[in-house]
Amino acid sequence: MSRYKAWGGRFSQPTDAFMEVFSASIHYDARLFRQDIQGSMVHCRMLARQGIIAEAESDLILGGLARVKVEIEEGRLPFRDEQEDIHMHVENRLRELIGPVAGKLHTARSRNDQVATDLRLWLREEVDAIREALRTLQRILLTLAEAHIETIMPGFTHLQNAQPVTFGHHLMAYFEMLDRDRQRFAEVRQRINQLPLGAAALAGTPYPIDREWVAKELGFAGVCQNSLDAVSDRDFVIESAAACAVVMMHLSRFSEELILWSSPAFGFVELSDAFATGSSIMPQKKNPDAPELVRGKSGRVTGHLMGLLTLMKGLPLSYNRDMQEDKEAIFDTIDTVRGCLKVFAGMLAEIRVNRTAMALAAKVGFTTATDLADYLARQGIPFRKAHEVSGRLVRLCVESGRALEQLSLSEMQTADARIGPDVMEVLTVHASVNARKVIGGTAFATVRSAIEAARERLDG
Ligand code: ARG
Repeated sequence: MSRYKAWGGRFSQPTDAFMEVFSASIHYDARLFRQDIQGSMVHCRMLARQGIIAEAESDLILGGLARVKVEIEEGRLPFRDEQEDIHMHVENRLRELIGPVAGKLHTARSRNDQVATDLRLWLREEVDAIREALRTLQRILLTLAEAHIETIMPGFTHLQNAQPVTFGHHLMAYFEMLDRDRQRFAEVRQRINQLPLGAAALAGTPYPIDREWVAKELGFAGVCQNSLDAVSDRDFVIESAAACAVVMMHLSRFSEELILWSSPAFGFVELSDAFATGSSIMPQKKNPDAPELVRGKSGRVTGHLMGLLTLMKGLPLSYNRDMQEDKEAIFDTIDTVRGCLKVFAGMLAEIRVNRTAMALAAKVGFTTATDLADYLARQGIPFRKAHEVSGRLVRLCVESGRALEQLSLSEMQTADARIGPDVMEVLTVHASVNARKVIGGTAFATVRSAIEAARERLDG
């Protein structure tokens, strides 16, 4: 039997060589080493406080753990498949350093509650980092939106020019999405932040441990209330992945717009050279690789969410080894989201906006036809009828190759005699935008106050 196996007593045959490679998780769960050692140290201090191990033993273990931590930080601890995972690597090295007393660390504990604790500690930090990255991106959005409160662009539905809006207003739509994302992570964090340790393998432990104390020392808000649930719950992982998938869906939509807008057919924005690439064959090309990659990476995060749900859905209580498969999925999910948020912040901070192209496009496609209908409705015509009149005038424009404001007053009056000379005032994109002063609307003044309120929400 290998001297590293934690279950040597029961076994008479060694583990199959390929099984060892197959079951090892050390090459990815090594990234939990800080949390693993942090959890072990608090567990060890609790064992001593409760008189379960002696103070002197605890001191030896704590000193050894500190050394193991430094060794791993400095890349001096070799990872070996036969030692399976990070928990065994830490414990085995501890034994090499301080001798058999190392074996007392695992009193009143199992790898089942240990791994759940490590993962919660790790995810809590990552979720906080994501919340901060979201906040950074929101700040950049606010700055950009502020600069473009009066930049008029076409608003779209069905990707058809619909009504003029301002670029600032459009950007603030993403601010709102990211704000909900940040809330989602704050809520998920509360459910992550419960301590599983003390559940031991599945049923709890006969030792007089103090779970509440451990929870407090590790910064958890409380302890998991059912030992079976404590070791077998991974909804905190799934919820985190779901919140990540929603962020990625938002970033992917934004990416899609940036890709369209930076195409010469739109020409609304230009990405800085730092976030674009060229073509090896077409010298004129500037490709929007950063948003394309973000859009692409949203697929893998959605995939991980599906993978995690599928992983868990058939597992009987409590711990099953299947659950080791949660790690690569959640690690990659978090890394991907953090990377995408970072690239987005850099990209948006340097984006160039072509106000003229936006303003020109805002006028294309009879975007003030609704304003004309609203004008008629204000003369007392039922909106449905007003819509029809405006529609007829649009058709006249289509047929004669003109814009609405190029029709003469008499042509308009043939459609409805109640149209007066003041109609021209409502047909400009500027008037259309500024007529929408309703809460949440696109009028300059409304967007200006929306940005102010948003800044307070963000920093408050
Ligand atoms: N590497 C394992 C995991 O990630 C740790 C827990 C192992 N527990 C066990 N009973 N084999 O789930």
